Amino acid sequence: MPNSNKSQLRSPRLKRPTRSVHIVGTGSYVPDRILSNADLEKMVDTTDDWITTRTGIKERRIAPDYMCTSDMAVEAARRAMEQANVREDEIDLIICATITPDMPFPATACIVQHKLGAKRAAAFDMEAACSGFIFGVEIGQQFITSGTYNTVLVIGAEKLSTIIDWQDRQTCVLFGDGAGAAILRSRGEEHGILTTCMGADGSQADILLMPAGGAKYPASKESVSAGMHHLKMSGKEVFKNAVVAMQTAAEQALRNCNLTIQDIKCVIPHQANLRIIEAISDRLGAPMEKVYINLHRYGNVSAASVAIALDEAAREGRFQRGDLILLVVFGSGLTWASCVIQW
Ligand code: UT7
Repeated sequence: MPNSNKSQLRSPRLKRPTRSVHIVGTGSYVPDRILSNADLEKMVDTTDDWITTRTGIKERRIAPDYMCTSDMAVEAARRAMEQANVREDEIDLIICATITPDMPFPATACIVQHKLGAKRAAAFDMEAACSGFIFGVEIGQQFITSGTYNTVLVIGAEKLSTIIDWQDRQTCVLFGDGAGAAILRSRGEEHGILTTCMGADGSQADILLMPAGGAKYPASKESVSAGMHHLKMSGKEVFKNAVVAMQTAAEQALRNCNLTIQDIKCVIPHQANLRIIEAISDRLGAPMEKVYINLHRYGNVSAASVAIALDEAAREGRFQRGDLILLVVFGSGLTWASCVIQW
């Protein structure tokens, strides 16, 4: 439990890297179809009022049957590449963070590589659930800092609608589909990604999971009829852990950079529940005006959530070049991560 997790948070790099790494472009994509709280009222025993007051979510996006996670990832990636002015043949590495890959293998990142025509790029998937995008940014940053690669594409992409039990009102109202992407490069100047922190607590793996489909419970008639291929969550437990872990991770990142929350222009948290975000904002002493929120429009999009939020906040001009931003996420695993960027 991240309650006493200050000591567990790993901050692998307390010094500035020798080669600073920047996010030089972002992009995002959400499917057109909107599933509103009113629509859900017709599907399960719920109300717009319950969903709004307990979560802050008003609507979410649902991808059509023909659209895979990789298709959304490619759309988000193209937008990030366009903004960064990066061609397919300049990408050295593609990291795709997802819990809803197109299939168990090959990696969705390889399918994205092919669809983009990024033939030079190495590609792999990375699974840290809702924390995956920041884990991916940290991994990509390490490759650039070490001089191994120059240009890394990090994607968070999910088609969560495929693993939701649409008869379970406790979970089906929470999630949606979409993708976000970022291009990482060294701009040969100061600032960029100042610190990242990642953490995990596998002792609580069972509070947010999809039990079957892996080696422990391979797909079978029994696993399907027992609903074991759906996302399961102990909401209250996850909620409590999320607040503590995200607060601790955010504070750790600020300490690493010798900054206070007052120095931060914009906080971009994982978009799971407005009450979680308000609790973190309160604990960090960050006024809500500083906190970017889009969960009312998309719900929780797991690894894609913070990536979409980063792209939208950047495009809306919520921060400018040189401003400090704080990203903080939490997810199944349990996992959590934070990141301070001087934009
Ligand atoms: O991305 C990874 C991170 N995920 C999260 O951070 C999610 C964390 N958890 C949460 O956001 C919240 O725990 C939930 C939104 C999932 C649930 O909110 P809650 O305030 O913890 O509600 P609860 O589960 O304690 O349920 C309260 C009541 C229950 O009824 P009783 O037992 O009091 O009669 C539920 O059955 O609300 C009922 N309920 C609903 N009622 C209407 C649960 N879901 C619904 C629903 N509509 N959709």
